[in-house]
Amino acid sequence: MKYVIGVDLGTSAVKTLLVSQDGAVRAEATREYPLYHEKSGWSEQEPEDWVAGTIESIKEIVSNSGVAPEDIEGISFSGQMHGLVLLDAERRPVRRAILWNDTRTTEQCRQIEAKLGDKLLSVMRNPALEGFTLPKIEWVRQHEPEAFERARGFLLPKDYVRYRLTGAVHMDLSDAAGTLMLDVANKRWSADVLETFGIPADFCPPLVEAGACVGTLTKESAEKTGLAADTKVFAGGADNACGAIGAGILQPGVTLCSIGTSGVILTYEPDASADYQGKVHFFNHGKENAFYAMGVTLGAGYSLSWFRNTFAKGESYDSLLAGVGDLPPGSGGLLFTPYLVGERTPHADSVIRGSFIGMDGSHTRAHFARAVMEGITFSLHETVDIFRKAGKTVDTIVSIGGGAKNPVWLQMQADIFQADVVALENEQGPGLGAAMLAAVGCGWFPSLDACADVFVKRQKAYRPDPERSRRYAELFRIYQDVYRQTKGLNQALAAFRK
Ligand code: XUL
Repeated sequence: MKYVIGVDLGTSAVKTLLVSQDGAVRAEATREYPLYHEKSGWSEQEPEDWVAGTIESIKEIVSNSGVAPEDIEGISFSGQMHGLVLLDAERRPVRRAILWNDTRTTEQCRQIEAKLGDKLLSVMRNPALEGFTLPKIEWVRQHEPEAFERARGFLLPKDYVRYRLTGAVHMDLSDAAGTLMLDVANKRWSADVLETFGIPADFCPPLVEAGACVGTLTKESAEKTGLAADTKVFAGGADNACGAIGAGILQPGVTLCSIGTSGVILTYEPDASADYQGKVHFFNHGKENAFYAMGVTLGAGYSLSWFRNTFAKGESYDSLLAGVGDLPPGSGGLLFTPYLVGERTPHADSVIRGSFIGMDGSHTRAHFARAVMEGITFSLHETVDIFRKAGKTVDTIVSIGGGAKNPVWLQMQADIFQADVVALENEQGPGLGAAMLAAVGCGWFPSLDACADVFVKRQKAYRPDPERSRRYAELFRIYQDVYRQTKGLNQALAAFRK
């Protein structure tokens, strides 16, 4: 039997999977690492923590699985998107990485809009949002000139980890699309962006497809991980692209709901012709020459983990969520908006913050927990709504991540989205998509689609209940109003944040 490894470099942890040729996960290991929030709106990580966690997790699955290293043919990566890793002439990070959920760059976004105008949407296919990479480059240039002075290039998180394992520098198209520097349709760095911001061409890494073989391991990383030095390394892709691959979103018609730290609703696009006027993100897929459109809730799984860590520290999710299934839609009149770190879709707003509206003396902790789940799902439904209004059919949604682990939440998704919601058997999130890129690269399958036929197995569908869907449709309108009603209040409160 032969094997591949899929590494998912997430925001809270790196999760590594050992997958055999029949698509079964034979071993997995996770390493957590810290997030640094030095100021309100800041979110940073230490690239060295990613490298150490990745090496340790690979070492653990190699030694615990008992699989011979030479039977592990390939390795590939999925990574948290947009994070800026600035490198000096020796390719050492000049500062900590600034992450996708860091919202310090509002001013730089306005400057980018003023300088690039219509090209943002026509070429980069996306609006300037705080989370994207170009605004972060501009922030460092303006606020930390001595660090910027030393910078000779940049990478995204998983590209930096792969560089440390192989010694070779690349960036794949699905991740490059989130930099706001890529000519998305033509798959090259935008000459307009480089010229406008005075960025030399060699500041940007060479672009490759997500499935490209970019080399093998260095002798040192082979020794540290326990893998064979001739293990083939494939570029890998953005976590959302890999989540889509791992959920079999490889043809038009099926939509993805992924709840990790962030949450996304994503739809496959066979070419670059769709025009959502910047209301949702439009990126290159990990499948060659395909694309996807996606809306993002910044604080999805994060809202539930914040709620647990703040009000039920040390408790399991099972215990926290016990009883939520017995409560009615609407949590007894309690509404939550998940804007703990600002929002992206449909409100690109770094100042807005979350609310519980309608607290009543009869509410229990279970009402609050259910309200958090409903608020996250309402936020994701805003994107479903945008897709439907743009003429897309959204009738089947594959759900992965935290939202797929709980049957009550899966039924809630079906009722709120008014669509069939399908979970996967043995769902592994973006790491499986990364493993699939390696499996196809190793020649096990002629295409990702053929690989998905073997690796991706759907469970039964959760169907919307008409009465609950009707209640949720009414609540959704109230939910949407909370943003408008609390925007001004949050602008006033922003002065009191640390
Ligand atoms: C997508 C985004 C997040 C991160 C999470 O634009 O910012 O989904 O990719 O890792």
